[in-house]
Parts: sequence; structure tokens; C-alpha cells
Amino acid sequence: MARKISFINYKGGVGKTSLIINTAACLAKMGKRILLCDLDTQSNASIWLLRLERWNLLNSSGSRSIYSIFDPANNIKVSDCLVKDVLKGKEGESLLPGLDLVPTTFDLVELENEYKGEKPGYVLFQEQLAEVEDQYDFILFDCPPNILRASQCGVFSSSEIYVPANPDALSLIGFTLLVEKLHKFHQVSAGFRQSGMSPMAQVHGIVFNAIKSGVDIDVPKMRMQLRMNQFRNQKRVSSSAKIFNTQVRDATVVRRSVTLGLPVILLGKESNETDGVGGDYMQLASEMINHVSPT
Ligand SMILES: Nc1ncnc2c1ncn2[C@@H]1O[C@H](COP(=O)(O)OP(=O)(O)OP(=O)(O)O)[C@@H](O)[C@H]1O
Ligand SMILES: [Mg+2]
Repeated sequence: MARKISFINYKGGVGKTSLIINTAACLAKMGKRILLCDLDTQSNASIWLLRLERWNLLNSSGSRSIYSIFDPANNIKVSDCLVKDVLKGKEGESLLPGLDLVPTTFDLVELENEYKGEKPGYVLFQEQLAEVEDQYDFILFDCPPNILRASQCGVFSSSEIYVPANPDALSLIGFTLLVEKLHKFHQVSAGFRQSGMSPMAQVHGIVFNAIKSGVDIDVPKMRMQLRMNQFRNQKRVSSSAKIFNTQVRDATVVRRSVTLGLPVILLGKESNETDGVGGDYMQLASEMINHVSPT
């Protein structure tokens, strides 16, 4: 069964998209079959992986992106939206087999206003995702910094939640707010869970990102750990929730990789896979593989 993981924090700009793309690429390189679902109407992950030209075509056509499954004018399912082996070279050759994308476009914002389906959007999404699930080892959801309808699709379908964070007070506040909002959403959506679905997803891990060299993050890390312990005692996060041992360093190449439309590990020497940020992402991917919940 695929492990389904939402990357989310109520704080924006902490590195959700860059972590999800770079770890997805590492997992694919390790031979795992990966589906990345872009649930953020900003479309950052989709533009990064498809590059602007291919994404523009999708955005102007208005079909086969995630919003099309909610648009009654279409008869499109999640399985119709899969972009197989999304990373392509100049000649259309596959650069990283095993990394597929469900892309989004700017019209996903309409889900928050226009959608009036018979069942909640997250139920429709989960049912359709279940049809393709057995093709993958990991399904990863890139969420915006909220739990509105688009994020709800990822959270409802997920078995685990990972929280990217920076070593600052605002990330801690974002984590706290996230746990509260998750609790409320689980209460509202509980009646829609069917037998055979995994239990409602709780926070399983926090990943510190963009850590500057020479900066001591012991204090913010300790604060995050204390908050996590409190939530664990209240059973509001998974019993196996932890701060990941791997932290991802701050590196200019991460910002450059967006411009180049590639994950860091495909940048060759520049990614510095052994002792640079490319190595951090590989280590994080390994830690994800080994971090399996007892529940
Ligand atoms: N390890 C890193 N080193 C340097 N820059 C980074 C690193 N991680 C992320 N960034 C940069 O920080 C910015 C925010 O990252 P990203 O878009 O991944 O955050 P996000 O949490 O997805 O944001 P949003 O809430 O808008 O979706 C981007 O410019 C990204 O390139
Ligand atoms: Mg993002």
C-alpha cells in the first residue's frame, strides 16, 4: 500500500514545496514509485517540474489538472491527470523515471468558492486517488499554508503529515495552529471515512529546513520538541512523531534549481550530493523510508 504523506504547515514560505520536490526526486532515484500531487493553487511544484512552457499550455487549456476533477463541465478523473515521468530533457527524454505528477493550475482557487458537489471535494478526490494508488510506493501532497478545501483533499487522503519548519517562532506558531485545525477537520470529516481507509492522519514528523551554517538551532529545536511532547501526551500527534534527525541546510543551489526546473540531485556536481544539500535531501528520503509508524 502506498504511504500517503501531506507536507503542510500553517506558516508559508518554510520550504514545503522545495522539500517535497527534492525528497520526491531522491525517493524516485532510490527506485521508489512516486506520485506528487500539487494541491497549491500557486502551482509552484507544477511550474518547477513541468517548466513554464508545458505548464502554460495546461493552465490555458483548463483540463487535466487537479481542478478538472471538481468541474462538472468535465468528465475527468485523477487517473486522467497523471503526468508520467514528469521530468523531461530537451529532447523529451525522461530524466527521472518513476516520478509522476498530478499538476495544478490557477483555477484550483475556484474549489474554495465554486464547488457545489454532492459530496465534499476531499471525498471525491480520495475515491479517485484510490484507483491509482497501487501504482505507487509514496503519494506526496504539496499543500498551501492552510487547511481549506484543496489541502483537505491531501489531509483526508493521507496516512501521515510532515511539517516543514524553519528555526523561528513563527514556524512553531504555524505548527501549533496546524495541530488545532487538523483536530477540527478530523472531527468534521470523520463520518466520511470508510472501512479500509487508514486512520486519520496525524503529524508524524517535523523537518527543519534552510538552516544557515554556523547558526545554533538548539533553542528553537528544543521549543518545538516541548510543544510536540505536549501534543503527544494529548494524543494530538502520532505516538511516533519526531523531529527528523536530518535537517536541510540553506543553499543557493536550492533557489537556482527552481529556475532550472530540476530537483537539486539532477544538477550534477553543483548539487554536491555527498556533503552538500543534495546529500541532505538523500538522507531525508532514507529517514522517511525508515520512519514507519507503529499505528
Ligand atoms: N534549503 C534551502 N536553502 C535556500 N533556499 C531555500 C531552501 N529551501 C527553500 N528555499 C527557498 O525559500 C523559498 C520558499 O520555499 P518554498 O517555496 O519551498 O516554501 P513553501 O513553504 O512551499 O512556500 P508556500 O507557503 O508559499 O507554499 C523559495 O524561494 C525557496 O527556493
Ligand atoms: Mg509551496
